[in-house]
Amino acid sequence: MDESRTLVDSTSEPEERAMEAAMRPKNLDEFVGQHRVRNQLSLVLEASKMRGRVADHVLLSGPPGLGKTTLAMIVAAEMQAPLRISSGPAIQNAGDLAAILSSLTEGEVLFLDEIHRLSRPAEEMLYLAMEDFRVDIIVGKGAGATAIPLDLPPFTLVGATTRAGLLPGPLRDRFGFTGHLDFYAREELELVLRRSAVLMDLRVTSAGFTEIARRSRGTPRITNRLLRRVRDWALVHRKELIDAESASAALDMYEVDERGLDRLDRAVIHALCVKFGGGPVGLSTLAIAVGEETETVEEVAEPFLVREGLLGRTPRGRIATAAAWQHLGLRAPEGAPGGWAGIDSAQEPLL
Ligand SMILES: Nc1ncnc2c1ncn2[C@@H]1O[C@H](COP(=O)(O)OP(=O)(O)OP(=O)(O)O)[C@@H](O)[C@H]1O
Ligand SMILES: [Mg+2]
Repeated sequence: MDESRTLVDSTSEPEERAMEAAMRPKNLDEFVGQHRVRNQLSLVLEASKMRGRVADHVLLSGPPGLGKTTLAMIVAAEMQAPLRISSGPAIQNAGDLAAILSSLTEGEVLFLDEIHRLSRPAEEMLYLAMEDFRVDIIVGKGAGATAIPLDLPPFTLVGATTRAGLLPGPLRDRFGFTGHLDFYAREELELVLRRSAVLMDLRVTSAGFTEIARRSRGTPRITNRLLRRVRDWALVHRKELIDAESASAALDMYEVDERGLDRLDRAVIHALCVKFGGGPVGLSTLAIAVGEETETVEEVAEPFLVREGLLGRTPRGRIATAAAWQHLGLRAPEGAPGGWAGIDSAQEPLL
């Protein structure tokens, strides 16, 4: 993958995890933004502490890099409970889950990441465990099989998923609280950056923060990553104070533009506008035009372009919106599907 893509990709690589761990807010007060989810979760935790009970099971959903794992850790920290971490794909069968569940201690928080990827039998075992704090261990096979019930200590399950829609209803219903995380506003990302800059001992001006935040695709993970690259740039260029010019020079160098588009994103809208007159054009044709696999264009570039209102999907193919022409500094021709962009200078954009 090219460098600009790795910068704006919202998923994380293993070597990045340690870096992320250092940046993670440790309690609800430090957790920036997501006010609704934060207030509701705070209430759930507070009430359970007052009742002297374990907290209700919590489901967190939302796109990668918005803070699901962070919140799961905060739940354990706020409840002053130990935390056990596993994930849907790591649990191969019901036996694996039974082993985890039966070793939990009272009040422990069990974090299951990517819970939509649990196997069916494990999922069914989880239903009973969540509801009655009990599992049935099946011994033997066929007609001779018997279920031995095993009581579990009360625990709190925190499930995380990027695909809430894939979760079966019965599982979703067993969570007492569901929080959906949304993309962050620029101002919120600025707060994330301010906090990270203190931890990294960096001096950044307000305008510098703004510049980084608006290129961060609404995602704290990306914003922290861009900050690290800007820090590198500033170090090499001997800038003690990072201002808007430094931030934008650094990120321009990494080919992340002022709206957070990387090289592939720009290539897609450029081809759409310049080669295909704004479309509609079929996805596979568009992919060939930018020299990429169809899946890469569809799964990597498109979701963000659609969310930004730069690209439209129609039954006849992909179209550029007025905003796409505008972003490239081009004027849409008369009759282009996205309409007239409303700007005068039609120059070749820099790619
Ligand atoms: N609200 C927030 N305030 C401050 N930092 C945050 C916030 N949310 C996320 N972060 C930072 O963003 C990074 C990614 O967050 P996290 O790992 O929790 O995302 P995630 O939703 O679990 O992503 P994935 O779906 O890939 O597992 C962390 O380093 C964390 O410090
Ligand atoms: Mg996570």
